[in-house]
Amino acid sequence: MSEIIKQPEKLTREFFGHNFEWGVASAAYQIEGAYQEDGKGTSIWDKFSNKKGTIYQNQNGNIACDFYHRASEDIGLMQSMNIPNFRFSLAWSRILPNGVGRINSKGVDFYDRLIDNCLEAGIVPWTTLYHWDLPQVLEDKGGWTNRDILPWFQEYTEICAKQFGDRIKHWMVLNEPMVFAGAGYFLGVHAPGRKGIKQFLPAVHHTALCQAEGGRLLKSLLPDAEVGTTFSCSYIEPFRSNERDEKAAAKIDALLNRLFIEPALGLGYPTKEIKTLERLEKYYREGDEDRLIFDFDFIGVQNYTRELVKHAYFVPFVNARLIKAAKRNVKTTLMGWEVYPESIYHMLKKFGSYEGVKKIYITESGVAFEDILKDGSVKDHDRRRYLQDHLEQIAKAQKEGINVQGFFIWTFTDNFEWAEGYYPRFGIVHIDFETQKRTIKDSGIWYKEFLVN
Ligand code: NOJ
Repeated sequence: MSEIIKQPEKLTREFFGHNFEWGVASAAYQIEGAYQEDGKGTSIWDKFSNKKGTIYQNQNGNIACDFYHRASEDIGLMQSMNIPNFRFSLAWSRILPNGVGRINSKGVDFYDRLIDNCLEAGIVPWTTLYHWDLPQVLEDKGGWTNRDILPWFQEYTEICAKQFGDRIKHWMVLNEPMVFAGAGYFLGVHAPGRKGIKQFLPAVHHTALCQAEGGRLLKSLLPDAEVGTTFSCSYIEPFRSNERDEKAAAKIDALLNRLFIEPALGLGYPTKEIKTLERLEKYYREGDEDRLIFDFDFIGVQNYTRELVKHAYFVPFVNARLIKAAKRNVKTTLMGWEVYPESIYHMLKKFGSYEGVKKIYITESGVAFEDILKDGSVKDHDRRRYLQDHLEQIAKAQKEGINVQGFFIWTFTDNFEWAEGYYPRFGIVHIDFETQKRTIKDSGIWYKEFLVN
């Protein structure tokens, strides 16, 4: 045991500085369950995951980690593990069952209690407004493809800010817009399951607008709050170093890494690399160029792997395809992603070198490997190694002058991993989904020790 929790000498908490924020991250739909309780409305994930054939083994988030009923115990567990910050998201449909209009006081009460629980436990709450669970009634009106999402999102944001802003000082507007727009409105593998460029383009533009407008509204209502938003990203490299693969890699980089941050920074959409994005103009209204821009206090970087890219004539819009890790004889995770810690370093350098990015938090970092619960413990040494290797890369970027100031492990407990269901376990706390019993994994014990050092 002592070997497990021993720190390599140089990798201590102090190394990252006193102001560095340490935490764990989660999302409402992935943990809360109680999908129809206390007046909650249906979200797109409720509908999507309860449809046959959408999720691994037809699983769903109806119960998930039952966090709705176990929040105070989980916060207690977090406290016992010395975790100082907890990032969670608010479920729009719990607060506004009809998307707009009537407020569900029981939903608001749940978050009030959660926030108070955190504060009483000495844990700082960090909140994401939108982690993919749009109220279904709004999706029925077009969801993110309908420009009315702007006033809908505005109303929701204002209610959250007024209700919780006295106690929440760290806000994130959106979680990984590229993933929910791409997987939900282009590939159709996430809720709401819509496909094609005609869905994707309006969803992108309206999402980018809400990202900035949401930030602006939060800041105007809560001038002292720290307001950010998060981005998914992957370090992109050409499969071979020839011109065609390099061009293909640049296109994928534009799509996966630049599409949402650049408009916020006033750089517009990366149309030079991807011509099809010029069609976004169709959805512009007067003033949108400025409306897309917002000066965030921080950005959240969420990186899990790198991608190698090959030129491909037959792929529309980008003429590029990703070469799967499984075909490359490299170490992979249960998600099929390559383990490549250097990726996070490259992403920090990339995002940190944008003029206008003031501060970066790693708002998610973590991994799903095969976990075995045996005799009351999970010896997930490969997860601990993964986290340590990533921390080393973050430390390297910080030493080279990148203003990275926080690290949130994805995730606290095992939970509902979207289309992959409960199969990939990302937690540092194991959950037996039959009994809901929580067991701290060895990686969790390591984090606990790391946080006192
Ligand atoms: C990013 C997403 O924000 C989160 O919801 C997801 O579970 C993790 N990546 C792991 O795939």
